[in-house]
Amino acid sequence: MSTHPIRIGVISALREEQAGLIDIMQDPITMTRGMRDYVSGRLWGIECVCVLSRIGKVAAAATTATLIEKFGVSHVIFTGVAGAADSRLHVGDIVVARQLVQHDMNAEPLFPRYEVPLTGLSHFYSDQILSKQLLNAAQEFIRIDFHSTITDHDKQQFRLVQPRIHEGLIASGDEFIAGGEQLKKITDKLQDVLAVEMEGAAVAQVCFEFGIPFAIVRTISDSANEDSPVDFVQFLEKVAAFYAYCIVKRFIAIHRDEQILI
Ligand code: ADE
Repeated sequence: MSTHPIRIGVISALREEQAGLIDIMQDPITMTRGMRDYVSGRLWGIECVCVLSRIGKVAAAATTATLIEKFGVSHVIFTGVAGAADSRLHVGDIVVARQLVQHDMNAEPLFPRYEVPLTGLSHFYSDQILSKQLLNAAQEFIRIDFHSTITDHDKQQFRLVQPRIHEGLIASGDEFIAGGEQLKKITDKLQDVLAVEMEGAAVAQVCFEFGIPFAIVRTISDSANEDSPVDFVQFLEKVAAFYAYCIVKRFIAIHRDEQILI
């Protein structure tokens, strides 16, 4: 049995992306730091700290650094929604990040485009073991929970038939992408991007700098086009919460079982 103390930091930008987790936490203790509530306790037997970062890279970076430095988390996972950047992805699909890039990072001509100055890196890799566990959790969610947790009405409204799971590049920036031209500016240069959001690459950079393993899972809420603002809000309220709760629950069970085997 492993003797390493495990404490998982669970970050989301918004309440709906983490709904229900704090309610079922065992022995929760809330501490407020830098305008955020960090709730420590046990989720399904594993020590966790749940926090809402709010939106954007600075918010996510500050929250991640506090989780690591003040709350001593050993692992970080991020759960939330994203816009589809690839036409093969549809609303309701799930993306687990293999790598993350800041699409708005540009310190040219001092550093190559997208490179985070003085790290020598533009793409930050997520932890393979945690990502595999999130992928397995997402697969179990689609196979077992999806049909019973999402109502037929919501399935119809969002045209959720058989959601698929993808693994690949996620691009983050301080910009909500709500138009084809806006998206094209990103995908013209970063052709492999599957999804766009506003926090993941900041979490990735901070975890890299502190040497903390991390993984990121995103549910596609919109197609990063003109309909995005409406789709995003409705999806958040009606669907995203169920995805997040079930995937985190299944991830923790998988993580706990694999930990016992180490
Ligand atoms: N998160 C969810 N949808 C998004 C979009 N279209 N742009 C940026 N972040 C998002």
